[in-house]
Amino acid sequence: MKKLLAPSLLSADFGKLTEQIEQVRRGGADLLHLDIMDGHFVPDITYGPPVIRSLAKSSSLPFDIHLMIEQPDQLIPHFITERTEMLTVHAEAAIHLQRTLRLIRSFNVKAGVALNPATPLSVLDYIWEDLDLILLMSVNPGYAGQSFIPSAQRKLVELVELKKRWKPDLIIAMDGGLDVERSGQLCQCGLDMVIAGSAIFAAEDLTARCLEFRHVIDAAI
Ligand code: DX5
Ligand code: ZN
Repeated sequence: MKKLLAPSLLSADFGKLTEQIEQVRRGGADLLHLDIMDGHFVPDITYGPPVIRSLAKSSSLPFDIHLMIEQPDQLIPHFITERTEMLTVHAEAAIHLQRTLRLIRSFNVKAGVALNPATPLSVLDYIWEDLDLILLMSVNPGYAGQSFIPSAQRKLVELVELKKRWKPDLIIAMDGGLDVERSGQLCQCGLDMVIAGSAIFAAEDLTARCLEFRHVIDAAI
């Protein structure tokens, strides 16, 4: 399986969005990671379906949508566009998680479950059949630019073992505090998808920074 790079637009300059998306695409980004926050599940608020629909028209990259919202079921249909490839909900926010995952898959979109740093992997025990992706949060969700929480690496190693047993085609993603060096180490441990915000968009040259990520990610295959 090719390992994936998904820049998180949360740290982008929204005044130069089209330009910056093109720059990360040229640097080898596979998807755009879009963070949706509702001011309840997480303290901050970002953007919603109208922005996503407009981005779907202008962007040439597929979307990896990370819903940090309560009661996601009612809003999920609004995030389905021709670019939506993956849609992830938080296990902590979806009360009927299996139903939510089936709803996502009903749109022919990959269904993902995100786990906060303190949420154990055991919440996955009875939903292996219904998911395509697991997003391990390596910061508490809500803001870009936070420091990586070291226990996330241990969680990744445990999840890689579970993947071998239950779902060899599972995509394991990690989000929060990832820089080039750490991404390389994590990919060596079995990470399939690197999500990075500030480490990409704070760079002077976005294309060059993405190529640095690409280099360490591909070296780990
Ligand atoms: C945080 C978001 C992340 C964020 C990552 O809640 O889910 O996607 O943009 O930003 P960095 O890479 O700066 O931690
Ligand atoms: Zn995210």
